[in-house]
Amino acid sequence: MGEKSFELFPVAASSIAGHVDALYAYLVLVSAFFSLLIAFCVVFFAVKYRRKGDELPKPVDEHSIGGMVLEIVWSVIPLGLSLVMFAWGASIFFTESRPPADSLEVFVTGKQWMWKIQHIEGAREINELHVPVNRDIRLTLTSEDVIHDFYVPAFRTKTDVLPGRYTTEWFRPTKIGAYHLFCAEYCGTKHSGMVGTVYVMNEADYEQWLSKGSGEGSMAEEGQSLFNQLGCGTCHPSEINKQNGRCPNLNGLFGTTVELNDGTKVKADEAYIRESVLYPQAKIVAGYDNIMPTFKGLVTEDGLLKLVEYIRSLGPAEGMPSSATPVPTQTSGPQPPAQPTANSRAANGRAGAAPANRAAPGNQ
Ligand code: CUA
Repeated sequence: MGEKSFELFPVAASSIAGHVDALYAYLVLVSAFFSLLIAFCVVFFAVKYRRKGDELPKPVDEHSIGGMVLEIVWSVIPLGLSLVMFAWGASIFFTESRPPADSLEVFVTGKQWMWKIQHIEGAREINELHVPVNRDIRLTLTSEDVIHDFYVPAFRTKTDVLPGRYTTEWFRPTKIGAYHLFCAEYCGTKHSGMVGTVYVMNEADYEQWLSKGSGEGSMAEEGQSLFNQLGCGTCHPSEINKQNGRCPNLNGLFGTTVELNDGTKVKADEAYIRESVLYPQAKIVAGYDNIMPTFKGLVTEDGLLKLVEYIRSLGPAEGMPSSATPVPTQTSGPQPPAQPTANSRAANGRAGAAPANRAAPGNQ
């Protein structure tokens, strides 16, 4: 980025940046206006109404209409101004916390003191993130140790990265360039060195960069070999319609609603799969026994993300009740015509953006 003169704001390089800056400007202007007004009034009244000689203050008229009007005015105006802050802030918050459905997926693992980044097609990088311009990018983040925070000032996005949990962050880069990436949560001695660079490239350069890849296959493929290595497949069938009565079939599972043996229902998302690998006894699928051993300590966070990606690549099959369309479980028989469209759109949202079809090991 070369030599820079002093800048008050970092470059605005994402679709949300302008909105965040506008809200920030509003907060600063409102605060500055009232700070100056109050400071002026303090000085002005102190001078104008200072006590002269042995003058006594006039009694206050408690029923004065003017006083009442003044009270209402100085309550209602700040209320309005702060409600604008609330509504405006909430609207930006909701936008920032809901990644668009067809986002490109990237996985981030924080650890003391580096960022490990994994692209769905297989490319891996450390302290660098390459993304195409003008595409929605959705990060799924987790930590191997303590709390970190993924912060790209130029995108005005910032999310805590927590051990034992998946969080998400999304942005749509609008300017080609290289931008600072920071850890924004004190995480130990070298916290200040936990930095990196986000490279925003045009689509062609990005494709070229991706094709250099890691040479080890997509995340789903790596997840599949890990799946076999750990022996998951000896119990869990992953072929369509195959059941062995001991372990649930994983084909077409991702994103569906799973019924548990205590009658509750959960969504088969990233967090559910991660929990089921590490703490299999936490949620037992209805009709199955608590027989799965824990894989805690045997799989790294990277490995878990790959397993999740493999299971995601296995489905949901066409016409399965998907998370995006709350259909009661056990729905069978013909679906209303609108249903499959919604489902395939939801399925594409996850798998379609990332070329999982190309990468998916398929149902073998
Ligand atoms: Cu990681 Cu601070």
